[in-house]
Amino acid sequence: CGAGSLALPRRSMIGVFDSGLGGLSVLAAIARELPTADLIYFADTAHLPYGDKEDHYIRSRVLRIGGRLVDAGCGVIVVACNTATVAAVAAFREHFPDLAVVGVEPGVKPAAALTRSGRIAVLATESTARSERLADLIRQHAGSVQVHVAACPGWATRVETLQLDDPHFAAEARQHLTPLLDSGVDQIVLGCTHYTFLAPVLQPIIDRRAALVDVADAVARQCVRLAGMEARGGGGLTLLATAQPERLQAALPALGLGWLRHRLRSAARLIVA
Ligand code: DGL
Repeated sequence: CGAGSLALPRRSMIGVFDSGLGGLSVLAAIARELPTADLIYFADTAHLPYGDKEDHYIRSRVLRIGGRLVDAGCGVIVVACNTATVAAVAAFREHFPDLAVVGVEPGVKPAAALTRSGRIAVLATESTARSERLADLIRQHAGSVQVHVAACPGWATRVETLQLDDPHFAAEARQHLTPLLDSGVDQIVLGCTHYTFLAPVLQPIIDRRAALVDVADAVARQCVRLAGMEARGGGGLTLLATAQPERLQAALPALGLGWLRHRLRSAARLIVA
């Protein structure tokens, strides 16, 4: 690190945030791409789920959290939540024009490019499913492909409670997915970052009839493009949450992310009123 970069104060952290555990799927992809970046993961666990909230509420949460991440030294912020991106990324960019901001939106574009049947589905929270932004995304990228948008109430909460292999959920998911598969859908977009962790339940139901589309790796690549100097740090990870930060740390192995623990420096509660 040269004298110039020491003399100039810089925001050297990459901040990744979500309502809860879901954005850890995006954090993991970023951590794999950027082994020496210093990362902060922020979960608004005192206010989850976002998926059943009104846009104005989510927007005010996102702007406040963004301010705290800037104060904590973040120069790149990843809104690792489809619901928060839909509701607030435009306002967020306007509010923090100097930040590099990456949002997460359902992978309608890759799914539309990959489909052979001409039918795709987007699984999302209620808030994302009814949003005008998703409707715009579909208008822009789906072309003649038919898009079924399926709201999945309660699925993010299931991830939060780590009840991932409950047979009742498998039955519910089968009921949800079977009509989509029967209608010929061959690409299923995971339009909520929490749903990545449900893939082990969804995959056997889908079998070989469709593929799951997850944009976490694409988001991580975008983060690499924007990170620049921020990617060169000590490779540390700080976990912050508005409630029960110890749950984030404890959840890592259950989510298949035990390997992230070697980067962990601290976990703390941060009240964002
Ligand atoms: N993980 C968030 C998303 O990608 C939403 C989960 C929630 O409802 O809080 O949409």
